[in-house]
Amino acid sequence: MKAVYIDTYGGPEEIKFGEMDDPTPAKGEVLIRVAAASVNPVDWKIREGRLKLFSGRNFPMILGTEVAGTVEEVGEGVTSLAPGNRVFAGLSHKGGGYAERVCADQSKVIQIPVELPLGEASTLAVAGLTPMQAFTLHYHVQPGDEVLVNGGSGGVGTYAIQIAKILGARVTAVCSARNAALVKQLGADEVIDYNTEDFRDRRNAFDVILDAAANAFFPGAKACLKKGGMLIKLNLSLSAFIRGKWSVLFSTKKYRMILVKNRSEDLQWMIDHVISGKIQVVIDRTYSLEEARKAHEYSQSGRARGKLVLKTGAV
Ligand SMILES: NC(=O)c1ccc[n+]([C@@H]2O[C@H](COP(=O)([O-])OP(=O)(O)OC[C@H]3O[C@@H](n4cnc5c(N)ncnc54)[C@H](OP(=O)(O)O)[C@@H]3O)[C@@H](O)[C@H]2O)c1
Repeated sequence: MKAVYIDTYGGPEEIKFGEMDDPTPAKGEVLIRVAAASVNPVDWKIREGRLKLFSGRNFPMILGTEVAGTVEEVGEGVTSLAPGNRVFAGLSHKGGGYAERVCADQSKVIQIPVELPLGEASTLAVAGLTPMQAFTLHYHVQPGDEVLVNGGSGGVGTYAIQIAKILGARVTAVCSARNAALVKQLGADEVIDYNTEDFRDRRNAFDVILDAAANAFFPGAKACLKKGGMLIKLNLSLSAFIRGKWSVLFSTKKYRMILVKNRSEDLQWMIDHVISGKIQVVIDRTYSLEEARKAHEYSQSGRARGKLVLKTGAV
């Protein structure tokens, strides 16, 4: 099969495209013929070797952490899925998704209805679920809450705005002026252009801040939260964690770093809302597998508007 892989950790120049052996499903696994693989910032962080603890050192390493496609074969003991099922799957940091075929544990594979295009489905497990879980598991957004989405026009942000609106919040999105129309169209009530205003200057303004731009920290962003408010960080860093936790020791304000979880009930919620048209999947660019390096360079530029997707040509 054709696949995108690295032989060593490093820059985009380490990305290779070529022939690899087809995987075979082990007990409890499903072999998926991949139609689309989402490109997430975590993919280039893995490629750079920043997450070695989770991704390991097993080279050649096929990149890619979430896919959508069709079941081609099932391993021993798999009864809930069958060849021909349209599915999507969140994979581990060990990757495997940027390829024509990938094996995934059946517990990570969810069937998707025909109404949901595979390219859109491939973007739900990371960028979609992260804000969904931020606003329902970590901070329970209530109708009327003031929600700030820092990085509103990116993969996570475009989902976050829409999910917060579904939950009844008033949403302020932070992005550059060129993306103001996009975030407004997704439902943002207000837009802050970070080139002309620093949202941190607002006082007691927000119940929750989702920091998808990775530049809001405590104590700097603390005063703009209301009493009992929460800053949710998506980029894990020990020093930021210690500083954040220290600064809320005697405060009603909360600081949380979260990691997306593969929960089938949450994925089902996302599928239902996309199919009913309540959540729009914003895809900025699609690439062929062979163009994965270009996709990484664009993602790494920090300018993506919504999601990036690699397509294999399979349907
Ligand atoms: N912890 C987890 O489980 C988890 C899960 C998913 C993602 N993440 C992390 O969350 C972060 C966001 O992911 P993503 O997929 O949304 O990234 P992304 O799609 O690459 O985000 C790009 C967007 O960020 C905006 N942006 C750049 N600089 C900004 C700034 N200073 N202020 C506000 N917006 C800014 C850009 O808008 P402009 O062009 O207008 O500047 C662009 O639209 C990444 O670091 C990712 O690794 C973590």
